[in-house]
Amino acid sequence: MRALAEVRDDPLADDGLLLRRPRPADAPLVLRGTHDPLVREFLQAVIPHRDEAAAERWLTEIPPMLWQTGRAAYFTLEAAGEAVGWGELVNLDPEQDSAEIAVWLLPEHRRLRTAKSAMRLVCRFGFERIGLRRIDAFAAADNMPSQLTGAAIGFRRAGYRPALFRSSRTQRLHDAVYATLVPEDLC
Ligand SMILES: CC(C)(COP(=O)(O)OP(=O)(O)OC[C@H]1O[C@@H](n2cnc3c(N)ncnc32)[C@H](O)[C@@H]1OP(=O)(O)O)[C@@H](O)C(=O)NCCC(=O)NCCS
Repeated sequence: MRALAEVRDDPLADDGLLLRRPRPADAPLVLRGTHDPLVREFLQAVIPHRDEAAAERWLTEIPPMLWQTGRAAYFTLEAAGEAVGWGELVNLDPEQDSAEIAVWLLPEHRRLRTAKSAMRLVCRFGFERIGLRRIDAFAAADNMPSQLTGAAIGFRRAGYRPALFRSSRTQRLHDAVYATLVPEDLC
């Protein structure tokens, strides 16, 4: 896989959706996302920003630093010029050419079948630009939309991990379904 700092990072588009690197003007998106109950339930270590200024400061400093140091690739998802969600490739592992994916959409953009295109774009970036050979997904066992979205684009169920991660909202431990995707299976 290529070092993140060296990959082409111009936007990827498909199906009316655009995947691009985040910018400070995405503060309203990040502020809402980090306060959303489902995002906080199903993603680990989500810290709600205090206000838009705090989200803007975080966007200015953290995603570029993580990208530059090869630790995580964060993305904003845009539809018709509007920021609608967020994607991540984390736990980038140069020995296994692998990473882990997470995606969320603002509530009004759920249940519209946008999720599949969103997850597909993040995976395409991982395979085509970074050169990953495997992308893993860990969805809470009770997070059916996330599991079904992954399965619909080619992720195969590979295991069950009891008490794998802690809800950012309630601190409750979630069991997780582990699924994995190789480039040949992405559909
Ligand atoms: C996960 C997420 C991105 C999925 O997006 P979405 O727009 O809700 O997904 P969709 O509406 O396309 O639904 C995906 C599938 O789940 C089904 N589904 C949706 N809500 C459901 C529910 N409450 N129970 C069971 N199935 C459900 C849909 O019918 C669809 O299946 P189908 O394609 O076979 O019809 C979105 O729900 C989200 O942002 N959730 C909060 C954050 C999160 O959980 N992220 C994932 C963490 S890894």
